[in-house]
Amino acid sequence: MELIIIQSQEHPTLPMAELNAIMETEEINGRISSPTVGLALIEDLNKDNFDKNYKILVKRLAYAHEIDEIILKENIEENINSITNIEENNDNKKIIDENNSYLNVLISKFKEIDWNKYINNEFAVRIKKYDNKELDTIAIERKLGSVIKHSNPEFKVKLDNPKSLIHIIITKKAIFVGLEKYKINKKHFQNMKPHKRPFFYPGSMSPKLARAMVNLSKVKKGETILDPFCGTGGILIEGGMIGAKLIGSDINWKMKNGTGINLNYCNFDNWETHHLDVRELKLYDKVDSVVTDPPYGISTSTGGENSEKIFYQFLDSIAKNMKENALLVMASPHYLKFDDWLNDLGFKLVDRHEIKMHKSLTRIISVIAKIKEK
Ligand SMILES: C[S@@+](CC[C@H](N)C(=O)[O-])C[C@H]1O[C@@H](n2cnc3c(N)ncnc32)[C@H](O)[C@@H]1O
Repeated sequence: MELIIIQSQEHPTLPMAELNAIMETEEINGRISSPTVGLALIEDLNKDNFDKNYKILVKRLAYAHEIDEIILKENIEENINSITNIEENNDNKKIIDENNSYLNVLISKFKEIDWNKYINNEFAVRIKKYDNKELDTIAIERKLGSVIKHSNPEFKVKLDNPKSLIHIIITKKAIFVGLEKYKINKKHFQNMKPHKRPFFYPGSMSPKLARAMVNLSKVKKGETILDPFCGTGGILIEGGMIGAKLIGSDINWKMKNGTGINLNYCNFDNWETHHLDVRELKLYDKVDSVVTDPPYGISTSTGGENSEKIFYQFLDSIAKNMKENALLVMASPHYLKFDDWLNDLGFKLVDRHEIKMHKSLTRIISVIAKIKEK
């Protein structure tokens, strides 16, 4: 069985990286590819736990808009070659011919599908096109909607929030028809924006980036995630959403208390917070993952100390609180160089992503594995 994911294109590498990380963490076997920028295709998924794995992806992914079960997959080059003969400057004719070619291929395929398997009474057809294709999407949606409706007179078209949403995803090389069986909770990322939580302080990252970082840490439900610079608790909230046990600490007691207020607001019960300097952190049990956004720049507090020195001391202290092979996922400014310290501290760099914030600041997201005791 197969899934197609309409990914967010707000970052070039993070959406695929978090998808790969989740597949590995949750032991979901499948072949991932990218038909075009912004789309991820997962093939060869096991039929027996397909629904369970589909729900896990819906629950965990940050950089995804929609996830569909694939009903039909067509290679365009095989079916539509008439458009290649049309002269370049005859744009209108090209669009009309292209529309007709897509429609003809899809109409005949749609007639073969048993829609009763996918549609629960009411439905809508929606087209998403990639690779700058010029198509009359409304006309195609209408026509294909009527083909589906004819297959069962009880089916009703409902454009607004239908029970069954059929997506037709058209790229330069292929057409994918999918059913959105489970919806991503987009409201969560809206409602958890830093200024909407009961305790707010400037400097908290977006909930989506926090979730992607949690995913990159490969933490599983029930395992422990630590943020030793917890601030307002933005990263821990995302860890809590996937069922991790949460430990937060901060040098500032107001932040430590504020994190508690925000975690309570989310109704999490498996968490603890400490009022601590990261350099004095000595946890009773070592943690499965550390996800954090250490202080730097002018908007966050470094307690008046040089942030480079704090970074070294933080890495040293954190290494002692992590299980072997645990991952540390950390944000840092581009000008802070710490790779030379890693080996010395028992760490190894695994992956890295760059996020351009503005002209003079790039945020680096590093995935670092604890490989040995110091
Ligand atoms: C960038 S903020 C963290 C933002 C956080 N991710 C959030 O969602 O609000 C950095 C935090 O590090 C804390 N901090 C600074 N120096 C520290 C230290 N030596 N030990 C522990 N916390 C420290 C600050 O009080 C601040 O709350």
